[in-house]
Amino acid sequence: MLGSFLPMKRYEELVARGRAEPSPLLAFDDEVVTASYNREPFLIGHRLTTHPLFSLAHLFALCRRMPRESILYRTGHIPGDADLDTSYDRYKANLTLEQVLDRFEDNHAYICINNPECDEEFAPVIEGLIGEVAARIDPLDPGISWYSTYIFISTRDSVTPYHMDREMNFLLQLQGRKTVHLWDPTDDAIMTSEEKDNLLAHIGGRPRYSAGIEARAMTYELTPGLGVHHPFIAPHRVHTASELSVSLALTFRTRRSDMWTDAHRFNARMRGLGLHPRPIGANALVDRTKCGIARLGQGMHRRLEAFHRHGIDQTA
Ligand SMILES: [Fe+2]
Repeated sequence: MLGSFLPMKRYEELVARGRAEPSPLLAFDDEVVTASYNREPFLIGHRLTTHPLFSLAHLFALCRRMPRESILYRTGHIPGDADLDTSYDRYKANLTLEQVLDRFEDNHAYICINNPECDEEFAPVIEGLIGEVAARIDPLDPGISWYSTYIFISTRDSVTPYHMDREMNFLLQLQGRKTVHLWDPTDDAIMTSEEKDNLLAHIGGRPRYSAGIEARAMTYELTPGLGVHHPFIAPHRVHTASELSVSLALTFRTRRSDMWTDAHRFNARMRGLGLHPRPIGANALVDRTKCGIARLGQGMHRRLEAFHRHGIDQTA
């Protein structure tokens, strides 16, 4: 699994670090964050554009020293409704990473660096950014439980196809321009309750794009120094402009989004039994109860598995 779980003690250290940061790299509008966090997208500012670590030369060096499985790439023109999960294999054109890096622009390439925070040179900066996010959202949504970051390097006119992730995100634009289309995850015309339950229960693929939702897109033009917040599981599609683009995604889950996830899994289970559960988000108390039952069920399942594997209950 990508990313890192964050024990509570480590989270509190990061919040303290974010609060004490004398020279923050992120700029939040407090009123906007309070009104919009996890409800709708909003812009933030950042100061990473002149940071030497994020120059193209440094990023290509990072690609060469990271474990090969951490670097995903594709080449050529990708349709906006392509399947994201299979796009890296499908649009690779049999090129090696070395070939892609050597002739990045000519190959019309797109690179995703998974978890640059695992690199000792990048770790302090990225942990500092997570600390700043944690410090800002702590009063609204305390307890980041997991985070994972990604650097995207794209040549001109590239597309990240329509998809949704199972977490929240702050996508920061470092070089070039990006147009980000986001859709409201609570709008039934975008994703039904059943699609969201299945998404979070990992049943089937992610909900697919349909042309009918295009007019409902919320569009954000990102230039270097700007970022946009993606609420929990908000669908999005991203286009770069006519120059090279570099962005950094800070994705994270919190104790509350973990609760939503487990409540969706409970609903998916109920649907599997032919029932029609109430949508998640309609009643917080009901959602917490569903989450509690789902976790109890998972715990029982693990114990039973261990019992069958070992013949005795070694989990007690
Ligand atoms: Fe995404």
